[in-house]
Amino acid sequence: MKLFGPFRQVVTLANLPLRGKLSDAQLEIIVDGGILIQNGKILQTGNFETLKTENQNIEIENIEGDQIVLPAFVDSHTHICFGGNRANDFAMRNAGKTYLEIAESGGGIWSSVQHTRKASEDELLKTLLERIDFLISLGITTIEVKSGYGLDVENELKMLRIIKKAQEHTKATLVPTCLSAHLKPRDFEGTNEEYLNYILTEILPKVKEENLAKRVDIFIEKSAFQPVESKEFLLKTKDLGFEITVHADQFTPGSSRIAVEVGAKSADHLEATIDEDIEFLANSNTVATALPGASLGLGEKFTPARKLLDAGAIVAIASDWNPGSAPMGNLITQASILATFEKLTTAEVLSGMTFRSAFALGLEDRGILKEGLKADFVTFKTDNFQNVLYSQGSLKAENVFIDGEKIQ
Ligand code: NIG
Ligand code: FE
Repeated sequence: MKLFGPFRQVVTLANLPLRGKLSDAQLEIIVDGGILIQNGKILQTGNFETLKTENQNIEIENIEGDQIVLPAFVDSHTHICFGGNRANDFAMRNAGKTYLEIAESGGGIWSSVQHTRKASEDELLKTLLERIDFLISLGITTIEVKSGYGLDVENELKMLRIIKKAQEHTKATLVPTCLSAHLKPRDFEGTNEEYLNYILTEILPKVKEENLAKRVDIFIEKSAFQPVESKEFLLKTKDLGFEITVHADQFTPGSSRIAVEVGAKSADHLEATIDEDIEFLANSNTVATALPGASLGLGEKFTPARKLLDAGAIVAIASDWNPGSAPMGNLITQASILATFEKLTTAEVLSGMTFRSAFALGLEDRGILKEGLKADFVTFKTDNFQNVLYSQGSLKAENVFIDGEKIQ
């Protein structure tokens, strides 16, 4: 048994509902608190001195200076396994070029596919681990990682095997997702429907056989896959035993409805979601995931997180870190900015990056500092937890703990 503390504030996020709006008055904040850990799990939170006197034979890890502690963050949507870089897309976009012009001059998702296919496995593993380390440095200890820059059997499996390999090198939890349905690759001879069928018959059985991912994602959008073919595809992936998540309503509305209809764990993006579909999402268990990094990268509007929360949806916030639309990767900065524009409370933002995003990944064992849950937590050198979002990411995480073990 180990006791961590004393912390100026322990923000447990305990006793908060999974869905809907939250006020900061609902936050449980333990002043001069401690966290008692056993076998990588939280045993108890409470006043540090009380925990110390009530428990004999405990090891104490003294926390120096003024620090606050939060549950570690969960980034439930990333594309951080990729080769190359799309700085030129960014510059062209800002110079007024359209999506089509950028794609025609060699940019867009297809350019990342070519770079990722060309990259060696060592190179991809190395850069993936560097990005994971960056996320850990922010206090993120659970990270979803998508394929989707391979787009054929060989290269999708290469990506997923690298993500699996990366798990051997990091204590963070990686959650792999198969996004072979990101785009029909230019070198595939056939229709969208034929490509989706190729994923179902050639890629997913192998993903299953090698246990490379339990989740499938699709990009439903005018420029990618269409609603009817996507829905059919998703129902078939479900029959194969996969969980579903969807890139939905990024530029045009309609696909979040499909995500709900097929029982997806989450519908992500939602920048273009219409009011009627906000209601639909709010009445479902499909998590509505805001990706402010993509709004910032593309100069598009933000996901209507305020409306979604007010309607009672389960709202998560994730980074979408990818070389095209969301190159920043700093979830804390992005979530702080989303809070400013969407008028989100601190409780809503912190919940969106912890137990609500964990729920989107089917991980209900983390994201709250309470008995029995995974002892992943992050400390900041400050006397007030509000400074974490207020500083918009410039207040760096001090220490990061995974299973009660200090890794930073
Ligand atoms: O989530 N929208 C589709 N996929 C990514 C972008 C991927 C890319 O541009 O490389 C996204 O924004
Ligand atoms: Fe994405």
